[in-house]
Amino acid sequence: FKRHLILGIETSCDDTGCAVLDFDGTILGESLYSQHLFHLMNGGIIPPLARDLHRMHIETVVHQAVKESGLCFNDLSAISVTTEPGLPMSLSIGTKYGKYLCRHYKKPFIPIHHMKAHALTARMVKRDLEFPYLVLLVSGGHCLLAIAKSADDFLLLGEVIDNAPGEIMDKIARRLKLKNLREYSVLSGGRAMEVAASKADNPLEFEFATPLMHYRNCNFSFAGLHNKVTRTIITEEKKYNVAPDQVLPSVNNICAGFLLSITRHLCHRIQRAMEFIDARNLILPQHRILVMSGGVACNNIIPQGIEIICNEFGYKLVRPPPKLCTDNGVMIAWNGVERWKAKVGVLQNFDHVDYNKCSP
Ligand code: KG4
Ligand code: ZN
Repeated sequence: FKRHLILGIETSCDDTGCAVLDFDGTILGESLYSQHLFHLMNGGIIPPLARDLHRMHIETVVHQAVKESGLCFNDLSAISVTTEPGLPMSLSIGTKYGKYLCRHYKKPFIPIHHMKAHALTARMVKRDLEFPYLVLLVSGGHCLLAIAKSADDFLLLGEVIDNAPGEIMDKIARRLKLKNLREYSVLSGGRAMEVAASKADNPLEFEFATPLMHYRNCNFSFAGLHNKVTRTIITEEKKYNVAPDQVLPSVNNICAGFLLSITRHLCHRIQRAMEFIDARNLILPQHRILVMSGGVACNNIIPQGIEIICNEFGYKLVRPPPKLCTDNGVMIAWNGVERWKAKVGVLQNFDHVDYNKCSP
C-alpha cells in the first residue's frame, strides 16, 4: 500500500507558501512566509522586490514544510506549483524551484492555476462538496464568478473589468492613512477597513452608488467607486482641514459606506448568476452551494449581505477559514491532489518537459 503525498508550492504574488498533503487532504506539513509588511512599508507591491524575497525564502519555506511532515522528498508522489496567473517575476521563482526539485528527485510536475486552486480549496474543507457549484473569488488581484464543473472545467460567468476589490481597499486604506493609527498599523488594507467600518456611528452617512446597476451581466467594476470615495475623502479633508498625517474624524463612516457599496455590487452580480443558473437549470436545487474565497473572503461584513441572497435562492454559503482564503501552499497541494486523482495535467517526463511552457 503506497501512500500518495503531494507537495505544493505557491509564489504567485507576495506569499511564499508550501505544504505537504496526503490524499485525504490531511496537512502533514505547511509553511508560509508573508512579505506583507515589506509591501505595507513601500505602499504597494514592487515586483522585483517580491521576486527577491521569494528567492531568499523559498528554500527555507519548502524545507520547513517537508521537515514538519516528518517525510523526505523521495516519499513524495508529485510536486504541484502555481504557474499562472500572478506576477510573472514572482511566479518564476516557484516554477524554477519546483522544476529543480522534480528533476533532482525524479518526480512528476503538476502545474496549477492559482484561481482554480482558490476555488477548489473548499472541497478540502467540506468533503461532501460535489461539483457543480457556484464560486465567487475576491482578492487583491481578481474578482470573478464561475461554476466549478470539475477539478479542471470552470464556466466563467463574469469577472472584473478594471481593478480588483482588494487592490482598491488597499489603496483607499492608504489614502485614509489608516496605517498611522497603531491598531491598524500591521493590518492589510481590507482588514483595516473592515475594523474601521465596524466602528461606524452612522454607516449611512456616505452613500456610494452601486456600480454597473444597469448592466445585465455578471461582470464587476470597482474603479468608479474608487474615484467616488477618493473625491469624498478630498472633500472631507477640506471640511476638517486635516494635517498631512492626521486621520479624518469621519473615517469609520467612509469605510462603512464603501463596504456597503461593495457588498451591494457583489450581491447584485451573484443574484444575476443565480438567476442565470435557474433559467438554464445548471445546478440542481438540492445541490446549491456558493463558495466564497480569496483574500477579501476573510471579511466578515460582506458575507452578511451575501447570506441574504443565498437564503433567497436556496444556496448555502461556504467560506474556507481565513488562513485558506488568502494565498497559501495548502491550496496548491490540494489542487495537486485533485489533479493527481483525476489524472489531468500531471507531467511525468521531467527530463523532456519545457516547464516554461506548461500551463494548467
Ligand atoms: O488572496 P490574497 O491573499 O492575494 C491575492 O490578491 O491573490 O488577497 C489579498 C487581498 C488584499 O488586497 C487584502 O487587503 C484583502 O485581500 N483582505 C481583505 C481582508 N483581509 C485581506 N479584504 C477585506 N477584508 C478582510 N478582512
Ligand atoms: Zn490569491
